[in-house]
Amino acid sequence: MTVLVTGGAGYVGSHTALALHEAGHDIVLVDNFANSSPMAVDATRALAKPEVARLDFVEVDLCDAEALANVFKKYRLSAVIHFAAHKAVADSVNEPVRYYQNNLGSLLNLLEVMVEFGVGILVYSSSCMVYGQPLALPVTELAPLKPANPYGRTKLMCEQVIADVCAVQPLAAICLRYFNPVGAHPSGCLGEDPNQTSNNLLPLVLQVASGRREKVLVFGDDYDTADGSGVRDYVHVVDLAEAHVLALDRLAAGYQDAISVNVGSGFGTSVFELIDVAERVCGVPISFEVCGRRSGDIAKTWAATDLAAEFLGWRAKRDVNDMVADHWRWHSRNPDGYVA
Ligand code: UD1
Repeated sequence: MTVLVTGGAGYVGSHTALALHEAGHDIVLVDNFANSSPMAVDATRALAKPEVARLDFVEVDLCDAEALANVFKKYRLSAVIHFAAHKAVADSVNEPVRYYQNNLGSLLNLLEVMVEFGVGILVYSSSCMVYGQPLALPVTELAPLKPANPYGRTKLMCEQVIADVCAVQPLAAICLRYFNPVGAHPSGCLGEDPNQTSNNLLPLVLQVASGRREKVLVFGDDYDTADGSGVRDYVHVVDLAEAHVLALDRLAAGYQDAISVNVGSGFGTSVFELIDVAERVCGVPISFEVCGRRSGDIAKTWAATDLAAEFLGWRAKRDVNDMVADHWRWHSRNPDGYVA
């Protein structure tokens, strides 16, 4: 298949592009580099094998409908994997219009052009943020959908728009609800660009391990969890990338509807547990200080993974040690991320 990967220079997008390439698909990456680096495209290409399949790149802003249509004119696409979106929760609270405009506007342009050009397969990058704080754990896909911020609401609205279009057009879609992606490609050459993030826990912990940051601030030790710190379901980005390949296979095999599927490891890891794993993997003590809770944070979440197993044949293969070890390799080799 020839697959369009929007946001292909981003963290999950670049790892997925490589996994698709390794599965033999021709890829057209598009990105506007609003929150990513051209060097991520170079890194993906450097790991690819040109004799296996093509890996093209076009710089496009999906909010520019004409530029997007030109990509569809140039390539005979069979499927789209849509990552491109703004994803910073705090920014979404402060600039909701920009978030709704970009995340919804780009999807609407994409759906319009997919229908126009008869491209009937879509994998959409959604988030466990659509649940907010789940009432019961593990969280299943049937749990109430109560996103707690504009970013999460854009993800839910996009899922709903996709389902509405699938109901009346020859389009089928799988929305993958990611839990907390971490880790990096085992080569150490492809990873999450710290310049583009990040208030996420693991990159900050590893910055302390490498001496670039004095300590980790632990946002609360008084949650209703075993050790009082927040619990999340961390999932290795390479496992996540493989889930996209399987989702594409499932759609290509003839699935006709729209469905949302959790993609998590199914295990909860607390902040203190993650710091412990990092100390062991990196072989250095990691200083931390407990401070107040971060506004908007939930106490705990982890995924029910039965649907991913049954529907996609996917299960996370890599554990938290692998996630930290691979992220650490990437961070050690590229402490400043993608810099020339
Ligand atoms: C964050 C994002 C979410 C994104 C997800 C995965 C926010 C509010 N949410 O969620 O949009 O989908 O990452 O990339 O930004 N923690 C600390 N100290 C820190 C940073 C985090 O104690 O300096 C704690 C948090 O309170 C939480 C856990 O570590 O309990 C994980 O935090 P983080 O990595 O930011 O992920 P999420 O909050 O789940």
